[in-house]
Amino acid sequence: MPISTPPTSIVIFGASGDLTQRKLIPALYNLCVRERLDPSTRIIGFARRPYSHAEFRTLMHAAVKQFTPASYSDVAWANFAPRLSYVQGNLNLAEDYTRLDEFLREREGGANISRLYYLATAPEFYAPCVELLAAQGMATEDTAPRRIVIEKPFGHDLASAQALNRTVLAAFAEQQVYRIDHYLGKETAQNIAYFRFGNTVFENVWNRNYIDHVQITVAETVDVGNRAGYYDGSGVLRDMFQNHLLQLLAQVAMEPPASFKATPIRNEIAKVLSAVRPLTPETLPEQVVLGQYTGYCQTERVRPNSRTPTYAALCLYIDNWRWQGVPFYLRSGKAMQTKVSEIAIQFREPPRAIFPPETRHSLNPDVLSLCIQPDEGIHFRIDAKLPGTIAETRSVDMTFHYADLGEFSTLPEAYERLLMDALIGDAALFIRGDAIEMAWALVDPIIAAYEQDDRLPVHRYAYGSWGPDAGHELLRCSGREWLNLCGTHPPGGHPH
Ligand SMILES: NC(=O)c1ccc[n+]([C@@H]2O[C@H](COP(=O)([O-])OP(=O)(O)OC[C@H]3O[C@@H](n4cnc5c(N)ncnc54)[C@H](OP(=O)(O)O)[C@@H]3O)[C@@H](O)[C@H]2O)c1
Repeated sequence: MPISTPPTSIVIFGASGDLTQRKLIPALYNLCVRERLDPSTRIIGFARRPYSHAEFRTLMHAAVKQFTPASYSDVAWANFAPRLSYVQGNLNLAEDYTRLDEFLREREGGANISRLYYLATAPEFYAPCVELLAAQGMATEDTAPRRIVIEKPFGHDLASAQALNRTVLAAFAEQQVYRIDHYLGKETAQNIAYFRFGNTVFENVWNRNYIDHVQITVAETVDVGNRAGYYDGSGVLRDMFQNHLLQLLAQVAMEPPASFKATPIRNEIAKVLSAVRPLTPETLPEQVVLGQYTGYCQTERVRPNSRTPTYAALCLYIDNWRWQGVPFYLRSGKAMQTKVSEIAIQFREPPRAIFPPETRHSLNPDVLSLCIQPDEGIHFRIDAKLPGTIAETRSVDMTFHYADLGEFSTLPEAYERLLMDALIGDAALFIRGDAIEMAWALVDPIIAAYEQDDRLPVHRYAYGSWGPDAGHELLRCSGREWLNLCGTHPPGGHPH
């Protein structure tokens, strides 16, 4: 049965921008197609460009056709389009919020309609926008919820994230605030919790007694492309680690929440992030490898001598009862060989070698691999005896692919799930203010080590490779290797 969402005025600030066209409007269109939007829900775009309502609809029509072609139909569009309208305004001008509020009130007709404000604007507008919304009384929940979705990046470092949290929480209460990390909206990321806590077999071995180490890889084949100007001031630690990789780590490592509601889940996420051992000037060189792909500094809008890393590999430890001593290896890079997001859990070897020596040498550790994208699914690499041999074994791969799920094989876009959750007021897949700050506190020392001095080398790596050799050495020095069960490699293949 379709989940219904309450009647809501969805205001998109930055409605003429890329995110709105590529993700938000297509996601809202699909929610409408799937009958998840209340008939009274309206979407109001806000930006400076002088569009009429009709011009805004024409622009969004093209976006829906381009970015969600599989679900597009003229009939569905005709059903969706009347929900769209546009208010021209400047995010820095109080009077434009007054006009917006008047427009919304007129549309809402005095009914108790919720509001969802979506900040799809450049980050410098987040603070002024929340302040002006509050100043106009538009954050006050007199008769119906007033919620705000804030896009990434949330801050540029710990100090700026703290400052932004202070501003946001002076205007809205924490339960009104939805800080987005679209990775958590992916079906495969949500499945981590279902897999762990919905099956008896895995949670029992999900600890330091059975797990040798954990690897989290988010590799992209694309380079910085037309984001170069922004990226050079940001780099891979801010762009990928502070948010996506540390959130995936939290999903893998957190304790079972008391219930599957937002507060208990977010409490566990905060607990596990607070247990990650901070990196210090002494440990940074052993636990962090930075890289930059060849040709990066020749990109337009990149500083010629830039030390901004486009690749990083980290070895982190979680100082708690469950994970003490288990390394968590995290890596992410641009211009890498394969596009893949994968969590690989390598289990310990059996406690005693009972097989003949020739078998023992061919045995590989068991690996459970959760493929976040693009080949969404789960792989479990185990050893099996080869039939007809005395004692030969081979790694075999037990797999589950979402693609095999018949009518459920098409995975909805992360933004669909996240928008729906924000509409119904479920913040479980959004980041709480304290967790954002904890994540910044973990990456800040790394950023400082390459930005403020040259304590950390930034290694060159070949465009289209698996990163610098030092990234492999991070594991090799303890007899381990990066794994890639979800990519194009055969089971057990190790890309270098
Ligand atoms: N694009 C993505 O795929 C993506 C992915 C993840 C996160 N994000 C985040 O989402 C946010 C938006 O990104 P984007 O790529 O959509 O940016 P964008 O294409 O540059 O769009 C920015 C929007 O803000 C509006 N705007 C700028 N100044 C304004 C002002 N003074 N008053 C009112 N509106 C103003 C612009 O419209 P006018 O010029 O008409 O005012 C435009 O609609 C950013 O924080 C980004 O980090 C984007």
